[in-house]
Amino acid sequence: MNAFDLQQALAGRRVLLAGGGGQVGVALRQIMPGGVELQALDRGALDITDRKAVTEAVGRIKPDWVINAAAYTAVDKAESEPELAFVINRDGAAHLAQAAAEANARMVQISTDYVFDGEQARPYRPDDAVNPINVYGESKLAGEVATRGVLGERALILRTAWVYSPHGRNFLTTMLRLMRERDELKVVEDQVGTPTSASSLARVILLAMAREVTGTHHWTDAGATSWYDFACAIGELAEIAGFTFGACRIAPIPTSDYPTPARRPTSSLLDKQSMRQAIGEDGVQWKKALRQVVSQMVDLS
Ligand SMILES: NC(=O)c1ccc[n+]([C@@H]2O[C@H](COP(=O)([O-])OP(=O)(O)OC[C@H]3O[C@@H](n4cnc5c(N)ncnc54)[C@H](OP(=O)(O)O)[C@@H]3O)[C@@H](O)[C@H]2O)c1
Repeated sequence: MNAFDLQQALAGRRVLLAGGGGQVGVALRQIMPGGVELQALDRGALDITDRKAVTEAVGRIKPDWVINAAAYTAVDKAESEPELAFVINRDGAAHLAQAAAEANARMVQISTDYVFDGEQARPYRPDDAVNPINVYGESKLAGEVATRGVLGERALILRTAWVYSPHGRNFLTTMLRLMRERDELKVVEDQVGTPTSASSLARVILLAMAREVTGTHHWTDAGATSWYDFACAIGELAEIAGFTFGACRIAPIPTSDYPTPARRPTSSLLDKQSMRQAIGEDGVQWKKALRQVVSQMVDLS
C-alpha cells in the first residue's frame, strides 16, 4: 500500500493516541496521514491509569481507533516497583479497552517480545506459549489479556522488540552518549533480538489499521543481531554519518558479566509472517533502518 492508498484508507478516521509523547507515539504523530482526525495525548493530557479520565476522553473524541502507545517501559526498575508497572501496563490498557468497547472502537495494544522466555530455538509465532521471566513482561502480558478479554477480535495486539528512535532514552541514544564519554564500552553479546525503528513500527501500525487487521501479531524490522553487534553498527554508522567520537572500543561480554535486576530472554526473535501476509509488506533490514535514523540525527544535530 503506497502513501496515497494509506491516506485514502484512513481518511476521515478518528484516532485517539495515548502515550503520544513516547518513542512510538512521536513516530505515529510524525507519519499520521493528513486526513486522519488525530488526538494525540501525552501523559500530561491523559493518564491511562485514571479510568474516569480515559472514559471521558474516549467518550468526547469518539474514536474509530484507540492506539495505546503508553506504557511503563523501565524493564529493570519494574522489578522493584511491580505495582506501578501493573497499574500502567495492565490496568491502563484495560481502561482504554473498556472505553473503546463502549465507543465501538477498535484498539491497537502494543506489546513486547518479553512475554516469551527466550528459550525457543526458532522465532516466536503469535500463538506460541508465553512465559515472561521479568515483571515488565508479566505486566505487559496482563495488558494483552485484559485488552483481548474486553475487545476480543476488535483488538490488535502487536508485539515488538528492541525499539529505538532519535529521541528519548533508548539503546541508540544511550550508546551514542556513552561513546562520546568513554574509552571503552562493554556490551552483552549473548542476547539475540531485532532492533526496530519506532518509525518502521509506526508505519506498520497504520498499514494494519488501514486493512483493519486485528488479533495477535508480531512486528520488528528484519534480521537478527546481538546487543554487541547492534552497538558496533551504531558506532560504524555514526562515524560514517559524521558524528565524531574519540577512540571508543566496544568489547563483547556475556550476560553473566552484566548483572541486571531483570532477567532478559536469551533469544526473543519474533516470527512476523502473519503480519507480513496481512499488510503485504516484508519490512526493512534493521541495519538499513538504523542507517536512516542515524543520518536523521546528524541532520537534526
Ligand atoms: N522500547 C522498547 O524497546 C520496546 C520493546 C517492546 C515493546 N515496547 C512497547 O512499545 C510501546 C511503546 O513504547 P516506547 O518505546 O514508545 O516507550 P516510551 O518511549 O517509554 O513511551 C512510553 C510513553 O508512555 C507514557 N506513560 C507512562 N505512564 C503513563 C500513563 N500512566 N499514562 C499515559 N502515558 C504514560 C510515558 O510518559 P513518561 O515519559 O512521562 O513516563 C512515555 O511517553 C509500549 O507498549 C512498550 O511496552 C517497547
